[in-house]
Amino acid sequence: MTSPHAPTPPPAPLPDDDDARRAAALRAELVYHQHRYYTLDDPEISDAEYDRRYRELSALEARRPDLLSPDSPTARVGGVPLQAFTPYRHRRPMLSLENALAREEMTAWQERLERALGGLAGVSYVCEPKFDGLAIELVYEGGRLTVAATRGDGEVGDDVTANVRTIRDVPLALFAGADPVPPYLSVRGEVYIRTDDFRRINEQQLAQGGKIFANPRNLASGTLKQLDPREVAARPLRLVVHSTGDVEGVAHRTHTEFLAWAGRLGLPIAERNRACADLAAVMEYYDRTLAERHALPYEIDGVVVKVDALSVREEAGFTSNHPRWAIAWKFPPVEEVTRVLEVAVQVGRDGKLTPVARLEPVRVGGVTVSSVTLHNFDQVAKKDVQIGDYVVVHRAGDVIPEIVSTVLSRRGAEVRPVVPPTACPDCGHAVAREEGLVDYFCPNVACPAQVKGHLLHFAKRDALCIDHLGEKLVDQLVATGLVKDPADLYALTAEGLAGLERMAEKSARNLIESIARSKATETARLLYGLGIRHVGEALAGGLARHFGTLEAVAGATLEQLQECPDVGPEVAGSLRRFFDDPGNRAVLERLRAAGVVCAPPAAPPAAGGRLAGKTFVFTGELTGMTRAAAKKSAESEGARVTDSVSKATDYVVAGEAAGAKLEKAKKLGVAVLTEAEFRGLLGGT
Ligand code: IVH
Repeated sequence: MTSPHAPTPPPAPLPDDDDARRAAALRAELVYHQHRYYTLDDPEISDAEYDRRYRELSALEARRPDLLSPDSPTARVGGVPLQAFTPYRHRRPMLSLENALAREEMTAWQERLERALGGLAGVSYVCEPKFDGLAIELVYEGGRLTVAATRGDGEVGDDVTANVRTIRDVPLALFAGADPVPPYLSVRGEVYIRTDDFRRINEQQLAQGGKIFANPRNLASGTLKQLDPREVAARPLRLVVHSTGDVEGVAHRTHTEFLAWAGRLGLPIAERNRACADLAAVMEYYDRTLAERHALPYEIDGVVVKVDALSVREEAGFTSNHPRWAIAWKFPPVEEVTRVLEVAVQVGRDGKLTPVARLEPVRVGGVTVSSVTLHNFDQVAKKDVQIGDYVVVHRAGDVIPEIVSTVLSRRGAEVRPVVPPTACPDCGHAVAREEGLVDYFCPNVACPAQVKGHLLHFAKRDALCIDHLGEKLVDQLVATGLVKDPADLYALTAEGLAGLERMAEKSARNLIESIARSKATETARLLYGLGIRHVGEALAGGLARHFGTLEAVAGATLEQLQECPDVGPEVAGSLRRFFDDPGNRAVLERLRAAGVVCAPPAAPPAAGGRLAGKTFVFTGELTGMTRAAAKKSAESEGARVTDSVSKATDYVVAGEAAGAKLEKAKKLGVAVLTEAEFRGLLGGT
């Protein structure tokens, strides 16, 4: 979201002593930086710097409660959950818009407008994205946010002020700059959630066995209707303002003027809003927006076209339900109904069984969807999906397609229930389910599906880095029995590979060379490549540094393992189980015999490194360097790199599409660095 002008921080309350002056200055700064971060998407300072100021203000307010102010950025979350929401009557009803679905309906709308006005002289439009969120009204009295209410039935909504105060891009006080703050202002907008945040939250919900939200709108509205503002504060809701309710003391001539003014007061305004001189320009805007909708960071379901001049709006007036001067031109739906042909069960590297619905192919939001994951069997039961059912498939933006619901009214007699398998679909081994967990597992480590997963993991760039070993080839190697475990890779010969279907001599040679190169590896890479449960890349690095060799890790007792940083009882147990298994020991022995050797880990970093004593977590995709290189650089400056975020983490370096770890960092107040900031810490390397 951007507004056209940078805001001026709000006026400081009258200072009467040093603390009061400092509190006012910190508040003004924090409000300014919050606006740059959340509303303009253009932060000027790092999160760490912001946090420092925030903590200073919190400490100051704790020491001097007389300085507390309801507008303070520290006062976004009130303490007490509500019993119920209080009804709130809107000063003016919140109307809805007429919808158009096709071009001709837009022409017909303009014709009706022309008739109502007696011509189209002086008519120009503003086009805006139609946000797929929850309608909200905000009331500012004397420049302070006093009420936020949902639309309800249009006349009376719910007072959700405590919840809306937690939304970071909602100014608690309007910015006073060149424009005087109006004595009374109500504005309308949408509360929404960005698609990346939506996906991340659903991933977390899934991991924790919580509710999966069907779409960002449901998540936003479900969140805003929570009675406990602390729950709302934990979810990254956002606001966009698109209309006036009532303005006192200021008269605008056009909607464009209003939007620019609201932006200067600190309210978030959509950056895609455009003035359009005529209907042809409106149509161009629609086509462009439709084409680009999936690249937007939020969901929209159409565009809203509004007459710009307020005098013309007044003349055009209202029908019983809608203004005549605006219309919502909806996009074709990104939800389609299709049929579940089959539900297959996929076996993961760790043996986890995931139900996947095979669908009658259907185009949703410009992409053909023929299969969707159902995540787990609890989800299948919750959504009541049966084989042969018609289901609503949704896809939004870059959100992975998924089944929203089952069309029960179309369920035929021929449907078959989805039954969790009792035997692994790949190897036939009896299926297990751990007490209290939602997932079913195939416990057979020799299961071909798991073997394939293990081999692909072993060959990963950050593990043994074996090029030319793709999925298809692994399928063949496992199917022909040439490879049953990672150690078998080292026994492969070009002649042996030549027998495989469609295997060119050159490809065979490339693969053999690549496998040979991988023999000279590092302890951390091999530890990671073995695919031991709970042992991610960073933890493998930590183990390697602590123990030096694979043999030392393999020989360590549960207690000794837990002496290594970040190894708790669960990880230690997993390591012990792995190394105690005779099959795994045999594989390790054969790897050694094949000549796989691990270089000792790099010498411990100098105690005086730039990042000495700091703990880092890397998440998301880095663009300027590989994750392994970033890790190495941090470690060479004395930092400790771990896999999971906790209070003990000093920095989370978030790359693109960072997910749950970033969310957790924000929740715990851990400083988050961009890749560029991280480079800065390294001294610009
Ligand atoms: S203008 C008088 N502009 O769409 C109506 N509405 O039925 C003023 N919406 O729930 C609404 N984006 O909250 C307007 N750019 C936008 C919008 C927008 C989403 C929502 C609105 C209402 C529905 C219209």
